[in-house]
Amino acid sequence: MLFNQSATSVVHFSFSIRFAIKEMVVRGAPAIAIAAALSLAVEAVNLETFQGTADAAASFLAQKLEYLVSSRPTAVNLSDAATKLKEITVKAASTRSEANAVFQAYIEAAEIMLEDDVASNKAIGSYGASCFESQLNDAKKISILTHCNTGSLATAGYGTALGVIRAVHAQGILEKAYCTETRPFNQGSRLTAFELVHDNIPATLIADSAAAALMKAGCVQGVIVGADRVAANGDTANKIGTYSLAVCAKHHGIPFYVAAPLTSVDLSLPSGESIVIEERSPKELLNSRGGLGEQVAASGISVWNPAFDVTPANLISGIITEKGVITKSKDEDFDIKGFVLKVVAQ
Ligand code: MRU
Repeated sequence: MLFNQSATSVVHFSFSIRFAIKEMVVRGAPAIAIAAALSLAVEAVNLETFQGTADAAASFLAQKLEYLVSSRPTAVNLSDAATKLKEITVKAASTRSEANAVFQAYIEAAEIMLEDDVASNKAIGSYGASCFESQLNDAKKISILTHCNTGSLATAGYGTALGVIRAVHAQGILEKAYCTETRPFNQGSRLTAFELVHDNIPATLIADSAAAALMKAGCVQGVIVGADRVAANGDTANKIGTYSLAVCAKHHGIPFYVAAPLTSVDLSLPSGESIVIEERSPKELLNSRGGLGEQVAASGISVWNPAFDVTPANLISGIITEKGVITKSKDEDFDIKGFVLKVVAQ
C-alpha cells in the first residue's frame, strides 16, 4: 500500500480529465497534453498525506501519466509531455527522499509547460506571419484557409495555425480567413468560427466540400493547418480532411503550411505510415451535431470514421515551428532531425 486512506480519497482529476479527453470535451493536441499534465498536478497538490518514499511518488505519477497517455492515440504531444514529466520526477526522486519534493517538482514542471505552450504559439504566429508576408509580392493582403480548430480552444492559448492567422491579421495583411466546418465533429464551425468572430477577424465559414471550388475561384493564397504528429520526414497527421486540402492546394499551386510546436514532432517515426489513426464512434456520422443530435443517416449503413489522416511531406510547403520555419532542401526533403538538433544546440 503506497498511500493512506485520506490520500486514496482525494478527487481523481486524472480520471476525470482522461474521460473529458476521450469525449472531446478537451481536444486539440497541445490542449490535451496541458490539461492532462495539469490535472495530475492538481491531484498531486492534494496528496500531502501520501505515505511513501520519493521513488514511490515518482512511480505513482508515472503510472498515472501512462493511464492519461492512453486517452487518444494519434497526437504525440501528451506522450511527449509525459516522457518529460517522468524524467523530471525520476530526477527529483534521485536527489530527495521525501515524496512531497517529487510532487512539487512535478507541479512546477507542469506549470512551466502551460507557460511554454503560450510562448511557443506566439513565436509560431510571428514566424508564420513573416512567412506569409514574404509571399505577398505585389498584393497588399492575403486570404488564408484553415481546417479544424487550432486556436485558444486547442492549446494553452493563442493557437498554432489559428495563431498564425491571428498574427497575420495583427500585422494588417489578412484579407480574410476561411474556415472549414470540419465534418463530422464540426470543430471549425463550432470553435474556429467562434474564435474568429470573437477576435473580429474577417472570416467566412465554408463546407469542407467547398474548399476545391474556393481555391479554383482564386479566393485563397495560402492554407495553414495544425498537426497531431509530424514524422521525421515531415509526413503530418492532422484532422481528417487535411490530406484532401493539401491535394487541392497542390493542384491549384497554393502554398500549404503546417504550424506546430516541436512537441508535435515525433522523430522516432521515419514516416507517417506507422502513425496510429484513431477511429471514432459511427454516431458522429450517423447523427447530427457530431453525434450528439438525432439520427440523420439511414439505419443499418456501415460507417468508417477515422478522426485523422496523414498528409505526405511532398504536399507540404513548410512546417512553421516556434524556432523557425522548416523548409525543404534542394532535393525536396525536410531535414526535421537536423533542424531539431540545430535549435537544441543553440
Ligand atoms: O480531434 P481533435 O479535435 O482533437 O483534432 C484536433 C486537430 O486535428 C488539430 O488540428 C491538432 O490537434 C492541432 S491543435 C493545435
